[in-house]
Amino acid sequence: MALTDSEESSGGRPERGKTVHGEAANAGHRVLAPDDAEVEAYLETALKAPAPDRSVGEAVSDGPVVVLDFGSQFAQLIARRVRELDVYSELLPHDTPFADLERRGAQAIILSGGPNSVYDAGAPKPDPALWSGRIPVLGICYGAQLMALELGGDVLPASRREYGPANVTITAPDAALFDGLDRDQPVWMSHGDSITRLPEGFSSTAQTDSTPYAGLQAPERNLYGIQFHPEVVHTPRGREVLRNFVVGIAGVAPSWTAANFIDTTVAGIRDRVDDHARATGSDGKVICALSGGVDSAVAAALVHRAVGDRLTCIYVDHGLMRKKESELLRVTFERDLGMDLVMVDARQRFLARLAGVEDPEQKRKIIGDEFIRVFEEEAAKIGAIDFLTQGTLYPDVIESATSETKAAQKIKTHHNVGGLPADLRFQLIEPLRYLFKDEVRKVGQELGLPDAMVLRQPFPGPGLAIRIIGEVTAERLDTLREADWIVIDEIKGAGLYRSLWQSFAILTPINSVGVMGDGRTYANVVAIRAVTSEDGMTADWAKLPYDVLGKISSRIVNEVPGVNRVVYDISSKPPATIEWE
Ligand code: XMP
Repeated sequence: MALTDSEESSGGRPERGKTVHGEAANAGHRVLAPDDAEVEAYLETALKAPAPDRSVGEAVSDGPVVVLDFGSQFAQLIARRVRELDVYSELLPHDTPFADLERRGAQAIILSGGPNSVYDAGAPKPDPALWSGRIPVLGICYGAQLMALELGGDVLPASRREYGPANVTITAPDAALFDGLDRDQPVWMSHGDSITRLPEGFSSTAQTDSTPYAGLQAPERNLYGIQFHPEVVHTPRGREVLRNFVVGIAGVAPSWTAANFIDTTVAGIRDRVDDHARATGSDGKVICALSGGVDSAVAAALVHRAVGDRLTCIYVDHGLMRKKESELLRVTFERDLGMDLVMVDARQRFLARLAGVEDPEQKRKIIGDEFIRVFEEEAAKIGAIDFLTQGTLYPDVIESATSETKAAQKIKTHHNVGGLPADLRFQLIEPLRYLFKDEVRKVGQELGLPDAMVLRQPFPGPGLAIRIIGEVTAERLDTLREADWIVIDEIKGAGLYRSLWQSFAILTPINSVGVMGDGRTYANVVAIRAVTSEDGMTADWAKLPYDVLGKISSRIVNEVPGVNRVVYDISSKPPATIEWE
């Protein structure tokens, strides 16, 4: 996986007509943290901005623990696990020169696993200076095998591939990596090759039935290796192993906390905006598009803390939000945080353009277009803008825009914005570009944003319009909003909200017959969708308890006028998608 930072990739600036993440602006992708990215693209487009320069990675904490990525699906997870120890961690390409790591002040280095055999032609190799011992190194799986092979040991295809749970026996009770662990440990293994001979100066620290070298070390050379994966949940004490390495062996202080992050980031943004204003004689105006989602809310709150009323937030109320959401935004930002919030009531405009439209992609296109028009009008009122705030997250920064996962997301295309005149220039402030989603939530909570905003499930940019199958009307929006409110209310009441990726109602185009009292009804069918998922790419329908489903159903039929039947969607993704449109 290569870094796609614009400043790291040789191509320099991203192309016009693309978002700063390198994707076609607002095109096709059904995004992971959906709402924010989409709305940002609208604003960028409305400001007729060429993809702006990104700030070069300024330091956010003491030197990082660097995870070198050898292609493991778990590489990101290792960095997240380290951060859970309150230690800042960065994922970098496997061949990052050692001099760069030293320049970044790396305090420890972890080599991820990878899909290759160390003998594959083109198997990824690190800079050999890594083995100098100047920075402690922990090799995991492929990383451990590389360490053994590169330093003169042997690695051979194992007699049988080991995949899944295994039992590891710690044979060196005083090994610092296994400090505090029992002799026998359940672990997760996934490898085809095995170390068969250790390099000079190394000793074995652990074994399994199939390998005598499940752990190796040369403490005086600052080198450690393990064949198993400490980062996955199937290695219950993996967290301790990582802690032993990072805190125990490498001596890194756990200082990566939401509070520290806020202090450093706020000071950094303030300096940047002040310097710019001084140098250019500008007002140092900053603009941010609020979507109602977590990322833009947290980014805005951080920037506001740094520059106060030089920040203007624009929120377009397109009337496609859920019940009470726009109000929550107003109360939080305007009343509680005292921020300059431009709330545009564009409900009628969106409704008028959506009248008679049934096709989902057409709806998306119209909503995107209208968004840009509204932003254009509002941005014009603000005058010269120096900075645009975006809620870019760390996974956006490290994931290649052309990776297969991104390509796979392009299942349904919607709005496509063309190239734009490159005459406006401003800089980006991306205060969350070093954070994972769960860290963004913690920062949001630390900043005092309400849980309802910070712990919110993803919500698509086009909102309820793509959950009303068929034409979107004011009346149908009201019906869906009420039904959706009941779903969320009951899911939250049952304590299930946070365990679900998304849970919501859909207004189907079907009317069905019912009886109420003595009368026959012919009314709307509402569907309920609740899914579990890691990332929105695949999803399983949630096995909601029957009593929760029962309560949702009876409340909707009783409380929402015009609905007489409720059904539950039991399709997983694939082959279905999460949204119905
Ligand atoms: P699907 O329906 O493709 O959804 O399984 C995957 C994730 O993407 C969200 N989604 C969207 N987000 N604009 C967005 O900002 C869209 O047009 C859109 N369509 C789907 C969906 O809510 C889920 O989280």
